[in-house]
Amino acid sequence: MAAEGLSVYEAIRVRRDVRAEFTGEVVDDATLWRILEAAHRAPSVGNSQPWDFVVVREPSTLRAFADHVAVKRAEFAAALPPERAATFEPIKIEGITESGTGIVVSYDHGRGGPQVLGRATIPETGVYSAVLAIQNLWLAATAEGVGVGWVSFYDPEFLADLVGLPRGIQPIAWLCVGPVHEFQQTPDLERFGWRTGRPLRDAVHHETYRA
Ligand SMILES: Cc1cc2nc3c(=O)[nH]c(=O)nc-3n(C[C@H](O)[C@H](O)[C@H](O)COP(=O)(O)O)c2cc1C
Repeated sequence: MAAEGLSVYEAIRVRRDVRAEFTGEVVDDATLWRILEAAHRAPSVGNSQPWDFVVVREPSTLRAFADHVAVKRAEFAAALPPERAATFEPIKIEGITESGTGIVVSYDHGRGGPQVLGRATIPETGVYSAVLAIQNLWLAATAEGVGVGWVSFYDPEFLADLVGLPRGIQPIAWLCVGPVHEFQQTPDLERFGWRTGRPLRDAVHHETYRA
């Protein structure tokens, strides 16, 4: 699917969390690099750029992560009331092996030294910065016709060990990245009846939160 040349608004509209639409081809290195460059251009608190990207293509690593995620999915399902478990059952929550490429985004709180400008009263601004890099990556991938699926069903310690993150470096996300047949028009969680979105007018407030 070629979606290149999308305006930023179009990319925002077309973007989806992709689980089932990966073609099975592996994203080529030049495209992957452009997507990572977009991520690396994200704003960051104190210009700390606290992110790193571990690109994973080794099939045994993809399989090991998929097996771990399957266990976490089963644990989540077992904790649901029966009606929610039935709704959850057909929902695919990852495309780890099908995408052919995983990108582990990690966060280094030590990056930028002890006095990060703007982080003194809000330590979370560091993680916020890493998440902005992910959003840049996601939109750039969409403009390239490449799908991204964020997987968060994992124990952070397991993922840190799997990809050899040094002590103190925190995994923020596993992103499944690969070419897609199409982007769904409706989020999977809406299509499968798990949860629908809320209208913008409910999210916008004037002057105070209650207004
Ligand atoms: C922090 C975060 C974690 C997520 N974790 C998962 C996940 O583990 N599995 C999954 O299928 N989708 C995951 N998603 C995708 C959301 O389900 C998805 O963004 C949401 O349902 C809206 O759909 P859309 O992204 O297609 O608009 C995650 C998204 C975010 C932002």
